[in-house]
Parts: sequence; C-alpha cells; structure tokens
Amino acid sequence: MNILILGGGGREHALAWAIAQNPKCDQLFCAPGNAGIAHVADCVDINPEDGDALIAFCSDESIGFVVVGPEAPLAAGVADTLRAAGILTFGPSRAAAQLEVSKSFTKEICAACGADTAAYGHFTDAEAAKKYVRAQGTPIVIKADGLAAGKGVVVAMDMETALAAIDDMFGGTFGAAGASIVIEEFMEGEEASFFVLSDGENVLPMGTAQDHKCAFNGDKGPNTGGMGAYSPAPVMTDAITQKALNETIIPTIKEMAKRGTPFQGVLYAGFMIKDGRPRLVEYNVRFGDPEIQALVMRLGAQVLDALLACATGKLADARINWADDHALSVVYAAEGYPAAYEKGTEIKGLEGLNDGSSLHVFHAGTQAKDGKTLATGGRVLAITARGKTLQQAHDRAYAAIEKINWPEGFYRTDIGYRAL
Ligand code: AMP
Ligand code: GLY
Repeated sequence: MNILILGGGGREHALAWAIAQNPKCDQLFCAPGNAGIAHVADCVDINPEDGDALIAFCSDESIGFVVVGPEAPLAAGVADTLRAAGILTFGPSRAAAQLEVSKSFTKEICAACGADTAAYGHFTDAEAAKKYVRAQGTPIVIKADGLAAGKGVVVAMDMETALAAIDDMFGGTFGAAGASIVIEEFMEGEEASFFVLSDGENVLPMGTAQDHKCAFNGDKGPNTGGMGAYSPAPVMTDAITQKALNETIIPTIKEMAKRGTPFQGVLYAGFMIKDGRPRLVEYNVRFGDPEIQALVMRLGAQVLDALLACATGKLADARINWADDHALSVVYAAEGYPAAYEKGTEIKGLEGLNDGSSLHVFHAGTQAKDGKTLATGGRVLAITARGKTLQQAHDRAYAAIEKINWPEGFYRTDIGYRAL
C-alpha cells in the first residue's frame, strides 16, 4: 500500500525509516518531511493541517494509510476529516486528542476513572487560584490548561514563584492556553514515558523510554522538547508497567469509549514513579520526540504492522516482538536553542554514519540545498544507536556524533546517565 506520514521532524523521520522497511509499504510520502526523510520517502509540500489538500493528495496517489505524527493536526481534527473521507488513518479524533490538548480534561477523566495522578484544582480566575495555592502550600505545580509547546508548566518550589506563575498565565504569557489553569500537587520520584497503542478498545504496549528535557548536562538549563532519550526505561519494571496499564491506561481507554469518544492512536503517558507506584503526570496523543527514535531502532519494520492493527481495530490479535536490546538517542541542537538560534548553517560529516539497524542519524530540522545539508530548526539531528547493552548503544551514538562537523550546534554529553 501507499502510505503518507504527516509531519517533518525527527519523530516522522524515525517513523518513515521503520515503515519504509516493511514490505507492506509500496510508496512512502511525507508532508512536509525534511532533508533526512527525503532519503526514505517522497516529501510533498502540503500543510499537515489542510484536510482538503490531504484528501485530494490521498486520492491522486492512491494512499491506503495515513500516519499523523504531531499533535497540532490531531488537535485540528485532521484524523476525523481523513476518516470521514474513507481514508484509513492512525491517530486520535479531535475529541480524543483532548487528552493532550486540555490538562483539565485529562484530570477530569482521571478523576472519573480512578486513575492515579496528582490532586488538582482547575481555575479560570487568579484570586481563586491564589487562594488555593496559599491553602495547599509549596512545592506546587502550575499549568496552563491548553497546548503551550511544552512550556506551560511551572514547578514552584516557593510561594512567590507560584503566585507569579498564576499572574503570568492569566496575564496572557501563553495566550489562550493560559485562559484557564490547573494547579497540581507536586509529585516526587523518577519520570518515565510509556507508549501504548489503543484501537479504542484494546491496548498494546509499545515500550518505555526516558528523556532528558533540560538543555544542558546534569539536567540544568531551560526546558526543551527533549535533548536525548533511551529505551527501555529501567525504572519501568514489569510490575510497574503492569500497574500503570491496569490502574491508569486501561481505565482511561474505557472511560473515553464510554463517553463516545474512543481513543485510537498512541497514548504517550508520562509517569512519576516512587516506591513502586506509577502516578500519571500527563498524556500526549502522539509519539515522543526523541523517544520514538530510540523505540524504532529496537522495533524496526514491525512498527507499521502495529500501527495498521491499531487503525483497523485489530490490536487484540497484534503482538510486538521485543529483542532484549537497548537504544539511545542524542539530540544535536542549534546553539541558542530553546531560545533564538541561527538558521541555515551547514552540517558536514554525515556521510557513511548510518549503519543498518545499529545506528541512524534521524533529521529533525534540516534542508538539502545545493548538495549541502543545512540546519533549519532548533533540534536538528537525533543520533540514535542500538546495542546489546545501554552502554554499547551510548558509546555507538557518541562515537558517531563526534564525527559530525557542525560548529553551530551543541549536544548533551550525559544522555542516559541515570541508567548507566
Ligand atoms: P507536563 O508538560 O505536564 O509533562 O510537565 C512538564 C514537566 O513538569 C514534567 O515532565 C515534570 O517534570 C514536571 N511536572 C509536571 N507535573 C508535575 C507534578 N504534578 N509534580 C512534579 N513534577 C511535575
Ligand atoms: N520528548 C518530549 C515530547 O515529545 O513531548
């Protein structure tokens, strides 16, 4: 079948790399794609949120399956539009994407189905929010309710910071996303991500990972989209994974179905783990970036079979074959990211680095021009390696990144440190 992937980041390159290896895939397209994706798919210049243009393209190219990568098209209802046009699509409806789009929605779902998560209050008014914070004390967590590109969360260790965050959010720092806020109990522990496919009824765990959100070594510096990741997450033991599945994920899926808005796609759940207890931090409704880069190195072509089973409602019979291996991904970002950075600088030394299923350089923000590879984004590359041990994956990834010549870039040198 012909397949179309929506998006143009490292996540979509990883998905394209895996999907292209599956014999079920005839022609692979990506909208809009990037310079790395162009090696495995035909990149087409269509806005992933433009439903009409996508339907026309799918008809012209006989697309049998669309995989939606990022959250924005899901939040805009692109999966609904495609399915209404009879196109098989991986990714939740607009209604089910609320699990990522609205933090208060997720908290309410958790309360309704008894999922284990932080106690919370939901406010549309600064005075009531401040009264709640004063009564609860610190540390406490203040969150803009809506999508804020991963920036709408303040973990306040003191009252001054908490009150200032409330003023900031209602003052419009996050625009409409901050028109209402969620205030949460601070949870201690170690964080991990759990990726679970659901066809609306059945679930299929796809793996665990841990990422590094801070820009600099030692988890210092500003929050980013993720500077590196590894899979599996040692803290997600079998017992904890089972607990997370039975006490949070499955109840959520049942609750969504009960409400007439079944969730079809990947639920990316962030958990805080302490003393054997996984508590939900948040849901996303798409794969994590760069977590999926590490996951696909371990899964390979079977990713397509799993996504197809998910979209066709056949997850009950689907299996994932796990090798007893590890993968680690290091993000190469533009100097200055996550704040302002230069665009258009040249990256050299990429030739000959990719090595079958043991090493791949996934592109997140690149463009090919006159035979050169130019950096066009904040997070630009994700150098991802697989190994028998995490140490081996780590060493392979860092050996490769050192061969890349890009003076305008930077990366963390301690990815995986907690597990190594
Ligand atoms: P979120 O966007 O909800 O994932 O929040 C971003 C980050 O803030 C998370 O990855 C956690 O590190 C931290 N965080 C969010 N909620 C809490 C909480 N209730 N307790 C402690 N840390 C939190
Ligand atoms: N790595 C974090 C995310 O994809 O949201």
